[in-house]
Amino acid sequence: MKSGILIVLEGIDGAGKSTQAKGLVRRLRRRGFDAVSFREPSRGRYGREIRRKAKQADSLTPKEELGLFLLDRRENVERNIRPALSRGRIVVMDRYYFSTVAYQGAKGLDPGEIRRANERFAPRPDLVFILDLPAARGLGRIEGRKSRDLLFEREGYLRRVRRIFRSFEGRRFVHLDAGRGRRELADEILARVLKLAVLKKAGPLL
Ligand code: TYD
Repeated sequence: MKSGILIVLEGIDGAGKSTQAKGLVRRLRRRGFDAVSFREPSRGRYGREIRRKAKQADSLTPKEELGLFLLDRRENVERNIRPALSRGRIVVMDRYYFSTVAYQGAKGLDPGEIRRANERFAPRPDLVFILDLPAARGLGRIEGRKSRDLLFEREGYLRRVRRIFRSFEGRRFVHLDAGRGRRELADEILARVLKLAVLKKAGPLL
């Protein structure tokens, strides 16, 4: 069976993940790679439910929220991620289960347990880019999108989310300063993905 490459972009709101995910897929395709991106919350039924509920503050307990993110991810894994990987594609995720560890962990649930629950069914990524940015800067970038009161409340929460993102260690994790220029960041991400893609292709020959 062919096996593709799973790349993940993570970071707090406003870190620039979506822009980087789109740009990465475009540049990989230009170089002849079969790349595709998916995001979470997904476009599926649970993802839509999450977005709808997010508009009504505190309509869910942290545990209920975790349950919905897990249902959404299971569906995304079965419908989109696994099929693309088994066709040998490069899959770029705009958020994945590290977001659940960080965001639901920052609401008081156990980060280790959240990670284990996800790794029981979600394929492990080859590379995880953590786009790091101070909470106030991330919020500054998305200010237009939300009201002032909400932003203030959100800053303390995003500080805790950022702390969890910064705590991921291991050879698959690449922590990058998202305060740099967009292009410079994109170049570094692309270079690392290309290096991995070449290594994986050459794998059977080594
Ligand atoms: P976001 O990527 O901002 O989606 P969009 O830009 O389409 O609105 O994600 C929405 C929010 O969901 C964001 O604040 C992070 C949060 N989130 C979690 O709390 N847990 C998760 O597992 C995921 C994937 C996202």
